[in-house]
Amino acid sequence: ALPGPVNGPLSGRHVIVTSGPTHEPIDPVRYIANRSSGAQGTAVAAALRDLGARVSFVTGPADVPAPAGVEVIRVQTAAEMRQAVEKALPADIAVMAAAVADWRVANASDRKIKKDGKGNLPVLEFAENPDILAWVSQLSEGRPELVVGFAAETNDVVGNATAKRARKGADWIVANDVSPATGIMGGTENAITLITADGSEIWPRMPKEQVAQRLADRIARAM
Ligand code: CTP
Ligand code: CA
Repeated sequence: ALPGPVNGPLSGRHVIVTSGPTHEPIDPVRYIANRSSGAQGTAVAAALRDLGARVSFVTGPADVPAPAGVEVIRVQTAAEMRQAVEKALPADIAVMAAAVADWRVANASDRKIKKDGKGNLPVLEFAENPDILAWVSQLSEGRPELVVGFAAETNDVVGNATAKRARKGADWIVANDVSPATGIMGGTENAITLITADGSEIWPRMPKEQVAQRLADRIARAM
């Protein structure tokens, strides 16, 4: 990976950032995915780079370009993302901002599925994808010192995100309120509640770049 500034607060530190959606194939021309532009993960990677970190940026097919000055590892599926994270370890810090598809299609076809002309419908079967955040958080050897997850919630943001933090074993959860009324989903701003061992902290709504800078500063102080 490429080095960041030599004298930032995170210089000498290696960070893995996951970002964007994953695409889980149905057949060679179709997939299922979560909605994700990759904007917040990209901004986090750039902000950590600006503090001097060496960043391994593991990204699914995002709408926004990857930042300069980081090592970019492009993946399609959750399984590939997990493997790429494993390969990028060891790291001092992991920030899992990807909107990983919870399921893959277990009966994906290696040929394009055709309409049969009689109205018979394909039946998709699903298998659960590996939870990359939970796996990294619970590594018994070589766990990053700080593991940060994200959580997109539509209701009871603090309750759901606090439970998620405990369930997965992450140090921090950056919870976004994505309820339709906020208009956050797909936009340029984010409304964050940071969940740590000390409780929850509501941040004012601000552009995703500012959320990223504030999070990166917070990470640098914690290290
Ligand atoms: N995550 C992950 N691997 C998965 C699913 C999620 O690494 N297979 C990570 C995301 O990158 C994010 C965090 O876990 O940092 C929370 O994702 P989220 O979808 O909110 O949590 P889930 O446990 O999948 O719960 P839900 O049922 O609410 O989707
Ligand atoms: Ca999920």
